[in-house]
Amino acid sequence: MTIRITWKRVIMTLIGLAALGMAVAWSGVISLAASSGHWAITDWFLHWAMRNSVRTHAALTAPKDPADPSGLVSAAGHFANACAVCHGAPGQKPAPVMQAATPPAPDLAVNAREWTDRQLFWIIQHGVKYTGMPAWAVQDRPDEVRRMVAFVRLLPGMTPAQYRALVAEAAPAVDPDNCTGCHGTDGRGRRSADIPILGGQNPAYLLAALKGYADGSRSSAVMQQVAMRMEPAAMAAAARRFAAMPGLGAARPTRADSPAARIVERGLPERQLPACASCHAPGKSYPVIAGQRASYIAARLRQWQGDKNVVDARKSHATMPVIARRIPKEMIEPLARYLAGE
Ligand code: HEC
Ligand code: HEC
Ligand code: HEC
Repeated sequence: MTIRITWKRVIMTLIGLAALGMAVAWSGVISLAASSGHWAITDWFLHWAMRNSVRTHAALTAPKDPADPSGLVSAAGHFANACAVCHGAPGQKPAPVMQAATPPAPDLAVNAREWTDRQLFWIIQHGVKYTGMPAWAVQDRPDEVRRMVAFVRLLPGMTPAQYRALVAEAAPAVDPDNCTGCHGTDGRGRRSADIPILGGQNPAYLLAALKGYADGSRSSAVMQQVAMRMEPAAMAAAARRFAAMPGLGAARPTRADSPAARIVERGLPERQLPACASCHAPGKSYPVIAGQRASYIAARLRQWQGDKNVVDARKSHATMPVIARRIPKEMIEPLARYLAGE
């Protein structure tokens, strides 16, 4: 007897196999227990598929300059707050409960070597499906991801002492309200280019910023991780504490006749650029910018002008982007340095 292969038979067989598969899945005999791990072959296959996927997607979509080593303090602090529980850190084991997952999070001091910077960027930005590796908590801060890539790249050679020095007092288990690991005990941001000086800032502005991070209207995975866990009373107290420290708004810059001084005090009427000091002045409800870190001011202005490498994702405000776009490009650096008092 010969069996003729017809389309009808092929389709019936496929439907039969699908039904069998459904029946097996329905019966519940397939174990999804994480406790048993994967078979070696499954493990190999999943990791192989993951590597291929990361390689292809990173090549297509990761930025050309995926690592920014200028903000290791905030990256290390965020690693301690959000990643070490699964991955561990130099001198610190991962939480046992997380290591009982399938697959367990790998030790990045070993695995970071397997990946290029662009691949690390892709993994950290997007996460890995079916593994528990989360995506970056906000998708519009590639600048934060680039700082994390630079930090992860250093993990293979990092000693526990070096790690502790970066994270300083940021271990959240000790103090859930910890800010000083990144902002310093003096609110000056530990000389990090990406961390603003908080001391002397308008307390209402600091409180609004914290609320914005917590509800997502100001986008930052680093600050969101901290702010989302804070009660409103703790936010208000932290805002008052930092605002009361010395820092911003202290010495008025000198060199009053420079082009930068002219923009701050009088603006550029021919470009319809208002004087910065008409809003950013003591006693007004705007943030204090005099005495702020020059790199931080310049980064905010560049982002509002459309530079994609630095991001300041505030969804609420239309004023500053309009003003910033009227500042001549070559004046951003001098203006930032003048305001910083350098
Ligand atoms: C809930 C646990 C968990 C958290 C939190 C977590 N990860 Fe992961 N991560 C994983 C797991 C599991 C993998 C393995 C994925 C795989 O191999 O398919 C992974 C993989 C990675 C990899 C690729 C390494 C490799 O060879 O697989 C990097 C890089 C990484 N994580 C960085 C981070 C960073 C940075 C953070 C914090 C922002 C973080 N992870 C937070 C669980 C976690
Ligand atoms: C892991 C590092 C880290 C920790 C911990 C941290 N911050 Fe921040 N903070 C940052 C960074 C980075 C920024 C800049 C974020 C941005 O780009 O919007 C920031 C910004 C802020 C701002 C906005 C200031 C401005 O001028 O717009 C406030 C307010 C603030 N932090 C308060 C706090 C408080 C209060 C705590 C503790 C409860 C804290 N931060 C803990 C890193 C940190
Ligand atoms: C009409 C009022 C107004 C004028 C004029 C103005 N600003 Fe602003 N500026 C604001 C407001 C409002 C914010 C807060 C935006 C927010 O948090 O959403 C701000 C925020 C900023 C910030 C970010 C502060 C921080 O801590 O993150 C910088 C930097 C800044 N302005 C620079 C300037 C410069 C430079 C000028 C002059 C060229 C200027 N501003 C003129 C209203 C103004």
